[in-house]
Amino acid sequence: MSFSEIIAYGRYLPETLLKNEDLKKFVDTSDEWIFSRTGIKQRHIAEKKELTSHLAIKASEDAFNSFKIEPKEIDCIIIATTTPDNTFPSTASKVQNYFKISNIPSFDIQAVCSGFIYGIQIADAFIKSGKYKKILLVGAETLSKIIDWKDRRTCVLFGDGAGSLIISSSRKKNGILASKIYSDGEWIDSLYADGGPSLNQKVGKIRMVGQDIFKHAVKKLSESTEQALTQCDLSVKDINWFIPHQANQRIILSTAKKLGISEEKTISTVKFHANTSAASIPLAMASAHKSGKLKKNDILALCAIGGGLTWGSCILRV
Ligand code: ACO
Repeated sequence: MSFSEIIAYGRYLPETLLKNEDLKKFVDTSDEWIFSRTGIKQRHIAEKKELTSHLAIKASEDAFNSFKIEPKEIDCIIIATTTPDNTFPSTASKVQNYFKISNIPSFDIQAVCSGFIYGIQIADAFIKSGKYKKILLVGAETLSKIIDWKDRRTCVLFGDGAGSLIISSSRKKNGILASKIYSDGEWIDSLYADGGPSLNQKVGKIRMVGQDIFKHAVKKLSESTEQALTQCDLSVKDINWFIPHQANQRIILSTAKKLGISEEKTISTVKFHANTSAASIPLAMASAHKSGKLKKNDILALCAIGGGLTWGSCILRV
């Protein structure tokens, strides 16, 4: 029996910083409003020529270089993104081409902010079935390119970035212990982009009913985390680090409180990165790893919710 072990973490954030104060150039807002409602202070923004694939490549290089893994060891590439470079081919094909790893599968998955949790479950199933042995899983986004910079209800919330994991087949009973993913199409109108190749041949901008999302988030994130814990016979007290999707500090802390997890055990990067959608969890994981917080055998609980609605959770031992 194979297990899916996390053997590398990587991250990349574009250089340009946009602070809350800077947003006054675009919309009628304030640092006080944004920080008190969301916990966000700043976000990184990609240059016009900096594409999602560039961010994904940099986050992958960080994982390869920091953990001394050769790209040619990878036998499958999965990119979770809502903001692919092109309608097609996939962003994963571009990453594959950059690293010159041919004759392996590469594909994008689209589950918006839950994309990385979906990716973890897909990678885990591939590894446990024996299909692939070393998977590069990346969450990468340039959400700034689909933001309506005149809509103060959304433009203050998002940022750009990428995070990566390398997940390897292992004989040790660690790594991904449980995962749950869900979707409910009833809520498609709560969070969506008003464009698409088939709809109107445009990219579209982010549209959101913020209070709908807030209402669902805490309940669905906490319930799916409890279900994943049950799946692997663990309980909340076994969790060393809670790493939820980084959308909003109020959602993060309310979910932790509902689960009975202390703020000290909750990793939050939303203040510095804002909401980077599918990139938010791997960015937070890589940041926690780089800061030395994650210790061997720590149990992590991850959870995310996003457009669709989609949501899910994962329990893993590092
Ligand atoms: N600056 C100043 N005022 C603003 C801003 C802004 N950036 N945005 C909205 N307002 C105003 C509104 O116009 C409104 O004014 P009005 O009463 O005169 O009409 C007032 O503030 C209150 O607006 P609400 O939308 O009711 O504000 P709320 O307290 O619900 O906070 C927020 C909005 C932060 C978006 C909240 O609903 C939320 O956190 N929702 C979760 C959504 C989320 O995190 N989405 C991320 C993407 S989804 C995901 O990743 C899961």
